[in-house]
Amino acid sequence: MTTQSANRLFGRRILLGISAGIAAYKSAQLARLLKQAGCEVRVVMTEGAQAFITPLTLQALTGEAVRTSLLDPEAEAGMGHIELARWADIILIAPATADLMARLAQGMADDLLTTLCLASEAEKIMAPAMNQAMWRHVATQRNAARLAQDGWRLLGPASGDQACGDVGPGRMLEPEAIVAELIQPISEAPHENAPAQGLHVVITAGPTREPLDPVRYLSNHSSGKMGFALATAAAELGARVTLISGPVSLSTPAGVERIDVETALQMHEASRRLAASCDIFIGCAAVADYRAEAAAEHKIKKREGEDGLTLSLVKNPDIIADVAKQRDAAGGRPFVVGFAAETRDLEAYARDKLVRKRLDMIVANDVSAAGLGFGADDNAALLLWRNGEGESGASLPPQPKTQLARAVIERALGCLTPRPVH
Ligand code: PMT
Repeated sequence: MTTQSANRLFGRRILLGISAGIAAYKSAQLARLLKQAGCEVRVVMTEGAQAFITPLTLQALTGEAVRTSLLDPEAEAGMGHIELARWADIILIAPATADLMARLAQGMADDLLTTLCLASEAEKIMAPAMNQAMWRHVATQRNAARLAQDGWRLLGPASGDQACGDVGPGRMLEPEAIVAELIQPISEAPHENAPAQGLHVVITAGPTREPLDPVRYLSNHSSGKMGFALATAAAELGARVTLISGPVSLSTPAGVERIDVETALQMHEASRRLAASCDIFIGCAAVADYRAEAAAEHKIKKREGEDGLTLSLVKNPDIIADVAKQRDAAGGRPFVVGFAAETRDLEAYARDKLVRKRLDMIVANDVSAAGLGFGADDNAALLLWRNGEGESGASLPPQPKTQLARAVIERALGCLTPRPVH
């Protein structure tokens, strides 16, 4: 429940853009919730969006005429498009289709909505929605990264059942979740001279899922809580944060850009792409070490007379070791922080990973301890890091993951200058 004083949306002018996806039907509820939160809402629909929901529905909900065309003399006579672009405090596009994202990433202005986006200095937010294969396509991922660099805040997409029958990332966030993301009180915004201001932090979180057949997969118990807590802490300290998340049921922390993936190969691709330009890379995800050599096209059936089933697995790439190896044109790379999930000989195994994977710092946690580690709200860790004089360490006792995350980010920031030499 939000109060008017804490509600960042109260009195804000929101230009709600709707593009051509089946999720457009949810935009009606979104418009209603925004009105209830005290916003002034005006709607702009692309031509295709009108095949999914009528302008009349949105007009009835907002009490304002809905704009659909750039070349509409009557509408332009009321409020011209430049005036509309200046009017908005926030441009929120929900759903944002792959096509619209591509056009915006290119800076095109070939319809009213894209023109407004170019002409407006408003805060820009979008909730992507599309088929899971379209979302995962390298072109869409490239466009999503470009838009984030250009200052767009991307909310979602969520993972799950899709209208087309597929399962995976690409569902538009529910209207309630979108409003909850927008409604953060202004006081939560990072302070201007926050310690991570100007830094880009990329974090992997959650499990990966490695399909065996259309209905089964290999995975683990990671809930994403530790990685999401790190993302929250880094954003609160002023960093630009990109969270590469496996399938989890957590909502995106305020101010964090999120990229949803399912498999280790997808996480690897997103990590390689983003690590090239970030300052700190943190691998908190519990990445499956192996995947099926070839996922079966159809559901694997029980065989009469056979008691066992042999799966042929191949090794997944070691994402963090790969990131630590990457070099940019100037021979640099991000400060790389790994995690070590161990059930015995915590320090020895963690030190081995620190050196073998060429990490700058490692957060070693004992995942066999009751009430800590996988799925829990609390965690404890041994931090080990490399500096010019050798290796240093610190023991962090059991505490909420939110607190532990803050300590990890602060320690990583403290190690950033001078940059470790390898
Ligand atoms: O998500 P939660 O429920 O909150 O639980 C948090 C956690 C226990 C998952 C987290 O604290 C943690 O320990 N994450 C790392 C889990 C893990 O896979 O550890 P590992 O020791 O197997 O891997 C070592 C490092 O290599 C990790 O940084 C891991 O992300 C990375 N790795 C591992 C395998 C692989 N193929 N690629 C990798 O990048």
